[in-house]
This record gives sequence, structure tokens and C-alpha cells, in this order.
Amino acid sequence: TVEVKQLYRESQKYLNEDVRVSGWVRTVRSSKAFGFIELNDGTFFKNLQIVFDEKLENFKQVEKLPISSSITVEGKLVETPGAKQPFEVHATRIIIEGMSSSDYPLQKKRHTFEYLRTIAHLRPRSNTFSAVFRVRSVAAFAIHKFFQEKGFVYVNTPIITGSDCEGAGEMFRVTTLDLNNIPRKEDGSVDFSEDFFGREANLTVSGQLEAEIFALAYKKVYTFGPTFRAENSNTARHASEFWMIEPEMAFADLNDYMDIAEEMVKYIIKYVLENAPEEMEFFNNFIDNTLFDRLNNVLNSEFARITYTEAIELLKKSGKQFQYPVEWGCDLQTEHERYITEEIFKKPVFVTNYPKDIKAFYMRLNDDGKTVAAADLLVPGVGEIIGGSQREERYDVLVRRIEELGMKKEDYWWYLELRKYGETKHSGFGLGFERMIMYLTGMSNIRDVIPFPRTPGNCEF
Ligand code: 4AD
Ligand code: MG
Repeated sequence: TVEVKQLYRESQKYLNEDVRVSGWVRTVRSSKAFGFIELNDGTFFKNLQIVFDEKLENFKQVEKLPISSSITVEGKLVETPGAKQPFEVHATRIIIEGMSSSDYPLQKKRHTFEYLRTIAHLRPRSNTFSAVFRVRSVAAFAIHKFFQEKGFVYVNTPIITGSDCEGAGEMFRVTTLDLNNIPRKEDGSVDFSEDFFGREANLTVSGQLEAEIFALAYKKVYTFGPTFRAENSNTARHASEFWMIEPEMAFADLNDYMDIAEEMVKYIIKYVLENAPEEMEFFNNFIDNTLFDRLNNVLNSEFARITYTEAIELLKKSGKQFQYPVEWGCDLQTEHERYITEEIFKKPVFVTNYPKDIKAFYMRLNDDGKTVAAADLLVPGVGEIIGGSQREERYDVLVRRIEELGMKKEDYWWYLELRKYGETKHSGFGLGFERMIMYLTGMSNIRDVIPFPRTPGNCEF
């Protein structure tokens, strides 16, 4: 048996030879004496055309095959000069492996993405989602390749954790307590000492704190894993479960982080364009016809770097009426991010040195005492795809910050000890994998770039 991808990539080897291919029927057309099948075997974005005629012993059955039936075809691969497809198989035998039912929901017409989300068990078979999830796979490999080639060590940080990295309290609790009979302490609070882990536990919002542990042992590490946020925001860019890539580097400052992040984004784009060309062409043709221009522009440009204070000034000067008014100290909203990247710079922009009050406790305090050494990468169309910072390595400053925010110092005892035993400046960042896929494909809803989206109210599959 040969795969359709091999036929396309090494057609000279197979032309005029007998081949055997297994796959799913995308369409069948037939007239009285012969017919065509568009076969997709999943290994390649494009279909393989099968020609069959009355000489098949099961011709009558084959010509009525419902869409998505699985079959194995034997026949000769022949060139088709001048036709839409480069070659086709002249079938001598078609074995029906699994007959589909005629009520198969993905009939050959355009379906809305909203509808396709309700059939998440079938949507990977559609063109769009077949392309999205292949790009997702290729991009994941590109990311590993990028960091491995640079000597970064891949670290698996825990999914179930006792700490809240972002300090935002947006965590899903992990518990085995009987909800009908919750043990309580004398003051009425829940007694987690009786819970499975003997303490409170959550799904991680970020692997960063644990990545820092490993960065201070290996110098350069990265994570690539699922993270969870119980934030109740129903937007096209937020999911409750998403994947994050979190590099962490010892002896690195904020500029070192931005340099490597920029190199990484370009590497991913280049790798995916080269290694999923058919899928990327599909996105450029059918999802966003500015995609190739945009991505090539990214490859050939230097990302802009501006401070938060400069960003606020640019937004104020714009004279534009924003829904959320702009004031120094405010968090940048999607509309602000879009204005900066799409109207002003028309390319990716790092915004640095945010006010400390809108950022996490671990970011390094700048000398002005008001801002932290943070940087977010904003891109046209998507907004923030990366958040990161230089980390606060000074023990006393970190303790003060933790106390200032009303967090419990005891909960971070091991994180603080890292500042006692061979501390150095270090930096890292988190790339939202789904946001990167949106950027790569032009898909506009995060629910359409992750196989089984989790959002408030949605956990069907
Ligand atoms: O900016 P965030 O919250 O940063 C962190 O978690 C840091 N601990 C990362 C680090 O420095 N190691 O999240 C990082 C990125 C965002 O820029 C965004 O791309 C993505 O994760 N992200 C989400 N993606 C989808 N759905 C959500 N709810 C997301 N929240 C953050
Ligand atoms: Mg962020």
C-alpha cells in the first residue's frame, strides 16, 4: 500500500506502476459506463482521482458509494496531462472497507465554522480543518526543532499544581472532595487537608515558575504543554484550555528574550510555509487572501519595539474614540493592540515596560519603581501572542512584591529559595500556541484552531 503523499512527492517512481491505496471517498461521480472518485487518504491535503468502469465486479455498488466510505483501490497510476490533477489511478479492483451512511453530515457544500464545531468528531475530515490541524502539527515540530537546535532542554512542568503562577486566581480546582459533604474547619472554610493531595490543588495556568527552576539548572529550557484558565471571557481569542510554549533563560535580560522570540516567530512561519505548502496555499486562497503577503512581510521586517508609555502616547495622539479610554496605567485592550499593530506599525510590535500594577508579581521592577521589565508581542489580526518578562531575581524586592499583593509568602517558599542559591538575572516568555496558529492560518476564532475547544459552557467532546 502506498500513501497519497508519496504519490505526489515521488510520482516518477510510481507512474505506470500498479499501486494500492486506502482512503476515504470525498466524492463520487459516475455516468453509465464509468465514474470518478476523489479519494483522500489523510496523508496529503490533496485528493487522488480514481477512475473506474463497468469492468469492476462491484461497479454498481461503487458508483453509489456514500461520501466518507473507506475503500482500498488497486490499479495503475497514469499521468493526465492538461487535467486539473497531475495523475489518476485506473482502478482494477475496489475493496469496500466500510460503507458510510448516506446521512453523513459533511456533504459537499460549504458549512459554517459554527456548525462544524458541533461535529468536532467529524470536522478533521473537512478541507479547512484538515489543513488547520496539519499546520498545528507542523508548527509544533518547528517549535521543538527551533529550541532543540539551540540547545534548549525540553521540560515537562506539572499539570496539577499547588501554585498560581499568574496570581490572578483564575484556576480550575482539582479535588476529590465529596461535593455533598465538604469537610470544613471550625471557621467554616473548606478543610483541604482531607482532600486527595492534603492541600489545595489546581490545574496549572502556566509552567513558568517550574521552568525557572530548570533554567537555573540547565541555563536554557522550554516547556510545551497544556495550560488552563478559568477566566470567564467569551472571546474569539480566549480558551479555557490552551497550549503554551514557555522558554526560560538564565543570564538573559529582556532584550535577549525579545531577540529569541522574534527569531522563533520567523522560524515557525518559514518552516510551516516550506513544510505545509498545500495547506498554506489553501488558507491564502480561501481564508485570508492577504496571508502570504503578511507572513512574507513578517519574515522580511524587524519587529517594532516600543515602551508601554510610548504606546499610550501613540494611542492618545491618534484622536480615535476607543471603547475603553486610554490612560497611563490602563491595560491595553484588543482594540488598542489592533490599532497599534494594524494602523500604526503594520507589523509585529513588542510593547515593553508596563506599569507594575497590571502585571504579574514575578516581573522585575524597573528603577523607576513604577514599571516592570515586561514585554508583550502584539501582531496584526490577533493581538497579543506572547507575554514575557525579565524575572525579579532580587530576594528582598520579590518578597516585598509578594506581600504587597497580599499573596502568601509560604506558598512560594521554593520559588524564593531560587533567589538564595546562585541567583542570576533570567528571562522568559510564553507563546500562546493557538494564537500562533491563528496568526499562521488567518483563522479568526480560537475555537477553530484547537481540536476540542474548551470555553465557558462547552465541554462536549
Ligand atoms: O500573558 P500570559 O498570561 O503569560 C504567562 O502565562 C507567563 N507565565 C508566560 C511566561 O512568561 N512564561 O500568557 C502567555 C500567552 C499570551 O500571550 C497568549 O498568547 C496566551 O498565552 N494566552 C491564551 N491563549 C488562549 N486562551 C487564553 N485564555 C490565553 N491566555 C493567555
Ligand atoms: Mg499576557
